[in-house]
Amino acid sequence: MQKGLFITFEGADGCGKSTQMKLLTDYLIKKGYDVITTREPGGKGLGEKIREILLNYDGEVSNRCESFLFLADRAQNIDITVKPAVSQGKIVLCDRHTDSSVAYQGYGRGLDIEEINALNNLATSGLKPDLTFVFDVDIETSMKRVGTEKDRMESSGTEFFNKVRRGYLEIAKQEPERVKVIDSTKSIEDVFSDVCEQVNQKLN
Ligand code: TYD
Repeated sequence: MQKGLFITFEGADGCGKSTQMKLLTDYLIKKGYDVITTREPGGKGLGEKIREILLNYDGEVSNRCESFLFLADRAQNIDITVKPAVSQGKIVLCDRHTDSSVAYQGYGRGLDIEEINALNNLATSGLKPDLTFVFDVDIETSMKRVGTEKDRMESSGTEFFNKVRRGYLEIAKQEPERVKVIDSTKSIEDVFSDVCEQVNQKLN
C-alpha cells in the first residue's frame, strides 16, 4: 500500500489555491493515486454547518469565538475525514488548515500565536501536513479576484489581509521544509508546474 500523504493549500482569499487544488486532484487521479479532497471550514456534515455560521453570521462575533469555531471544525475534519484516509494510504488534499488559524486569527486578528499553535495541536491531535502550499499574491490583486460579493471574512479590509499575508510568509520562514511559498502572480499553468514539482518530490 502506498504511504498516505496530507497536503494543505493556504493563502489569502483570492490567491488561486482552490483552482490549483482542483488541477492537482485531477493530475494525481490520472496518475492512479487514491485522492480525497476536503476543506476547512466545511468538508461535510457538521463542518458545513459551522462554515455557514463562520462565513454568513451577521451579528457580533468575538475573535476568540471565531477561533474556536474554526478549531471545532478542524477537529471534526481531522477525526472524520483526514486521519482515516491518510491511515488507509490515501492522498488527502485540504483547502485551508492550521496555518489559516495562525495567519487569520493570529497575525490578522492579533490573537496570541503560541496559544493558537497549542490549540491547533489539540484540534489535530498532533497530525501535521506533509506538505503545505502558500499561494502568495499581493492583496490588491487577490481582492480584485474576490470581487464585490464578499463574505464575512472577506469583508475584513486591506490592512487585515496584509497582516494575513505577512503571517503566511513568516510561517513559511519558520517551517521551510513543510511550507512552500508559490508565486501566485504567475499564470495558472506556471503556478501548477511549481506545485507538481514539489508534490512529485514527495511522491518519489
Ligand atoms: P473560503 O470561502 O473557503 O475562502 P477561500 O475560498 O478564500 O479559501 O472561506 C474561508 C474563510 O475562512 C477565509 O476567509 C479564511 C477564513 N479562515 C480563517 O480565518 N481561519 C481558519 O482557521 C480557516 C480554516 C479559515
